[in-house]
Amino acid sequence: MSTILITGGTGLIGKPLSKELVAQGHEVIILTREKKTSTDSRTRFAEWDPMTGKIDLEAILAADYIIHLAGAGVAEKRWSKKRKQEIVDSRVKSGELLVKTLKAHPNKVKALISASAIGWYGLDPRVPNPRPFTEDDPAADDFLGQACVAWEHSLDGLDNTATRLVIYRTGIVLSTEGGALKEFMKPLRFGLATILGSGRQVISWIHIDDMVRLYTTAITDASIHGVFNAVAPAPISNKDLLLKLAKLERKNSFIPIHVPAFALKIAMGEMSTEVLKSTTVSCDKLHISGYTFLYPTIDATLKNLLEKP
Ligand SMILES: NC(=O)c1ccc[n+]([C@@H]2O[C@H](COP(=O)([O-])OP(=O)(O)OC[C@H]3O[C@@H](n4cnc5c(N)ncnc54)[C@H](OP(=O)(O)O)[C@@H]3O)[C@@H](O)[C@H]2O)c1
Repeated sequence: MSTILITGGTGLIGKPLSKELVAQGHEVIILTREKKTSTDSRTRFAEWDPMTGKIDLEAILAADYIIHLAGAGVAEKRWSKKRKQEIVDSRVKSGELLVKTLKAHPNKVKALISASAIGWYGLDPRVPNPRPFTEDDPAADDFLGQACVAWEHSLDGLDNTATRLVIYRTGIVLSTEGGALKEFMKPLRFGLATILGSGRQVISWIHIDDMVRLYTTAITDASIHGVFNAVAPAPISNKDLLLKLAKLERKNSFIPIHVPAFALKIAMGEMSTEVLKSTTVSCDKLHISGYTFLYPTIDATLKNLLEKP
């Protein structure tokens, strides 16, 4: 059994991941910015502050694996200049701090497995039947694309070390505990299926259980290294997803409404580009690595997440 240190382990992915790792018999250390105490004997908290360079060295040296999830929420607040800087710094400074600490101290960390995002890719090319983005495609020249470049590059220093590096360019994680799905569900309480813009934009998503399983697989399978797109095989348009959700939650008692792109731009500012843009991402590399999805289709995913027993 191993000791796994998770940065940002208090978040949407980190919580179920920690639980799963403990269930598999591992010890978990959550590296967090706030002092916390654990009620579970196999999980403990350690502190850091990527902005000042403070880090609990003992926790790093205890780790056999590091999972790096920390980062300021991309969709949490309007993208002011200050917020954008926070989104980048929280990822880049934390990554650099991990690498610097690992390089400065002999350690037993076998692999560092980090989140990145499919924000790396830009808009789907405007040609008929565009091919999905693969890991070799260049980064978009927009804010998120360049933020992902800086995020991934912050870990470059591990290249010449014995620590295996895995990066998951993560799609929209579907979970009932938070994130995009919870936001999509809110208007349904009032019987409204709110389709964003034209609704034709493609969402590349992944079930939370598959996301957790990808992290645990990267621990146990030493052949996994490099960058992988973490998305399910069946991306879906915003409209189709919203209508499927509405039918599951409200049967036929809902009204589909389009929120026009200009209204989203006014309400969300630059961040609206993220909900309006179409990004179709390939998971072929995951398949080739041998990964089998628990939830490859959106129907199986929504049924699992939303249907009450
Ligand atoms: N969920 C998705 O759909 C999705 C999609 C693409 C990529 N990702 C990426 O995957 C990672 C994990 O996702 P998640 O949904 O679990 O994220 P999350 O719920 O927002 O949690 C991220 C964690 O990062 C830490 N954090 C927040 N602000 C920070 C800051 N300014 N500086 C340093 N640490 C900070 C927090 O931990 P403490 O407060 O304990 O320090 C927080 O619990 C993130 O980097 C995210 O960008 C997620």
